[in-house]
Amino acid sequence: SPRVFSGIQPTGNLHLGNYLGAIRKFVELQASHDCIFCVVDLHALTAQLVQDDLVSQTRQIAAAFIASGIDPEKHIVFNQSRVPGHAELAWIFNCVARIGWMNRMTQFKDKAGRDRENASLGLLAYPSLMAADILLYRGTHVPVGDDQKQHLELARDIAAKFNNDFSGRIEALELGVPMRMGEEDVNGYFPLTEPLIEGPATRVMSLKDGSKKMSKSDPSDLSRINLTDDADTIARKIRKAKTDPLPLPGDVEGLAGRPEADNLVGIYAALKGVTKAEAIRDQGGRQFSEFKPALAELAVEVLGPVTAEMRRIMGDPAEIDRVLARGGERANEIAGTTMRDVKRIVGLLDD
Ligand code: TYM
Repeated sequence: SPRVFSGIQPTGNLHLGNYLGAIRKFVELQASHDCIFCVVDLHALTAQLVQDDLVSQTRQIAAAFIASGIDPEKHIVFNQSRVPGHAELAWIFNCVARIGWMNRMTQFKDKAGRDRENASLGLLAYPSLMAADILLYRGTHVPVGDDQKQHLELARDIAAKFNNDFSGRIEALELGVPMRMGEEDVNGYFPLTEPLIEGPATRVMSLKDGSKKMSKSDPSDLSRINLTDDADTIARKIRKAKTDPLPLPGDVEGLAGRPEADNLVGIYAALKGVTKAEAIRDQGGRQFSEFKPALAELAVEVLGPVTAEMRRIMGDPAEIDRVLARGGERANEIAGTTMRDVKRIVGLLDD
């Protein structure tokens, strides 16, 4: 049966890209799917091992989930490190995946930079842990921004190789479910997950450079709208956003070759819940001096209540911890079943 899984790293500066590319989608999917939303604190260690405020960052992501409208009673919200299955399954997947697959990941190449030999092994194995996150719950649908597409393809490759390598054992133990793999019908254990990457804001760009994505780690705070920014800050950042000198085009094709205009229209559309074409029907032909205040007003209208609610929730860290603990218990139940199956399939001695 369909199950949604997604995760966000507690690495600070949760921004508009995370909100529009991911969290908003999570909120929508709740109505139609069983969902698991995870604060991936183990992943955060790959960027920087020693961190002063990992705990408060973890609580902040959880607060953002709840403030945005995710219901932690109906669905599962927890932090990754509480459920040992993530690290256990990632180990198995480290033995399934090939080093060459990891070396090809563009995010690894970007993050490792020139001195690749000196990057942590965790950074290289990052996508293996990510595949484990999803497949530990046999997640079938994964809402993410465009930057995670390659990682999700790798998760499919890992699932497919596991299913193939262990097909005899999966069959003999009667743990498989019929699934289509390429041209063949096989009995697989892990589903091939579908990425959900749709809408006008799958790749929100920096407000200062239309060729760079909006990112938590950009040194310029003006490049992004943080979920903790107040109304004045949001308006100021939009006012200062880079643009070209032309007015907005009259149709969506006119955005081609105008990355900054394209980005702001995409943000406007996503905040309004319409397509870019509809946004242009609404705002096309206007000067940026008119469009920017309209965009700022809309951004404040949408983000203001989320920010305020997040701040309220952050005021009671003990309650957040209770939510995460309860979510962790529920997650662990599902994870435990998977790990028992996986151990039998792989042939590890267990009870
Ligand atoms: P992370 O923490 O970098 O980002 C969280 C989510 O926000 C999306 N995103 C964006 N979307 C649109 N425009 C942007 N500028 C932008 N920047 C970020 C990301 O695509 C993501 O959906 N590896 C993941 C976390 C992860 C995960 C998982 C996700 C770990 N395990 C399992 C899904 C399933 C990451 O670093 O996301």
